Amino acid sequence: MKTSHENWGSRLGFILATAGSAIGLGNIWKFPYIAGENGGAAFIIIYLGIVFTIGLSVMLAEIAIGRSAQTDAINAFRKIGKPGWTFVGVLAIMTAVIILSFYSVVAGWCIAYIVKSAGGAFSGMDADAIGGAFGAFIGSPVAPIVYHGIFAAITVSIVIGGVSGGIEKTSKFLMPLLFVILIALVARSVTLPGAAKGLEFFLAPDFSAISAHTVMAALGQAFFSLSLGMSILLTYGSYVDRQTNLGKSVMQITFLDTLVAILAGLAILPAVFAFGLDPAAGPGLTFVTLPTVFNAMPGGYFFAIIFFVLLTIAALTSSISILEPVVAFFSNMGVSRKAATVGSGVLIFLLGIPSSLSVGIWSDIHFIKGQGFLDSASWLTDKLLLPIGGLLICIFAGWIVPSMMTREVSGDATPGVLTRGWLFILRFVAPVAILLILLSGLEIVAF
Ligand code: PHE
Repeated sequence: MKTSHENWGSRLGFILATAGSAIGLGNIWKFPYIAGENGGAAFIIIYLGIVFTIGLSVMLAEIAIGRSAQTDAINAFRKIGKPGWTFVGVLAIMTAVIILSFYSVVAGWCIAYIVKSAGGAFSGMDADAIGGAFGAFIGSPVAPIVYHGIFAAITVSIVIGGVSGGIEKTSKFLMPLLFVILIALVARSVTLPGAAKGLEFFLAPDFSAISAHTVMAALGQAFFSLSLGMSILLTYGSYVDRQTNLGKSVMQITFLDTLVAILAGLAILPAVFAFGLDPAAGPGLTFVTLPTVFNAMPGGYFFAIIFFVLLTIAALTSSISILEPVVAFFSNMGVSRKAATVGSGVLIFLLGIPSSLSVGIWSDIHFIKGQGFLDSASWLTDKLLLPIGGLLICIFAGWIVPSMMTREVSGDATPGVLTRGWLFILRFVAPVAILLILLSGLEIVAF
């Protein structure tokens, strides 16, 4: 096992790369809608409460495990824990491979939509026609797979450059660009006539909409949004030097992730409402509703292009973070970084093909709960593997190696009230919360 390995070039680089992992499609196409549906500002307050207690604690635990072990996910659990815990790393790497395979397919759609918007493919079309064009595109057998391949190749080309030379360098360039684009979109959206209705949907607090269901929605969204539970943060944490204050870093990363989610709401919902459309979550919002909005909006041609560039950037800084744990593991097995990256890239590309075909010519082939390959892979990771990964990380950090974790976070100083509070959340609060996410995701309990 190799123990001396790469490091981030700077603390800023670490923060931006990790925020890049957290900020993804979840912030842009899920958060605004979930917030609007579940009580607007009332939901946002609950979400903030969850993210800055439970979410942040689990993130800190993952990063602390990584930094103290100084190695990849699989070896980390063996090195600082007990050999029996190795399976947590194995599970995490498997989850990463599955998630990346379909994440890359969807990200490929985003690249395709940059090209389509630039070529004016939707000009003059109404919502129905745009919906039809979207269905026809993702259902076609070749083009989406080509775009998936392009996206996977870009991801590979970045990760091949290494931690500071590839991932960090790219994040330092792309994350500021993401903010600039997002702010331009917010400025456009909130100044449209009729934008106020969207702002009201997103922000007006409706405390009567808050129920156990809302809290579960906030918890699930917090986990997905912070990229918890699949050892990405563990791997990124293993590249952090001893001087870095981990508590402060996770505060900043969580803040940036939440800021982007809220800005995305301000960019999307006012525009959707200004043109009298209904918001939806997920692909429908991104690939059907928004192109319809851009058609009607002054300057829409330009804003459509930068919106899909924004999505592609958000997806790319997440996808590199999903590939890195896989590459780190194979590199530690003695495979060169180049071979490990290309090999994992090819594997992920191949695994993505059935996902892509499952929304087209293979739509009749069902796996989990009558769903096609893509939806099954997403269900398996979202509802099962990620919560299990998160739960095991809490148990490991909170119960198996708590004193090592305390030292990692508070250094030589006697652990203060914050560290003790953190440990309490890790041991009791977070496991119960995750267990509830798991049970409700599996529909064993309903909220
Ligand atoms: N956090 C990313 C988002 O918000 C998605 C993601 C999930 C990335 C899990 C990596 C791991 O879209």
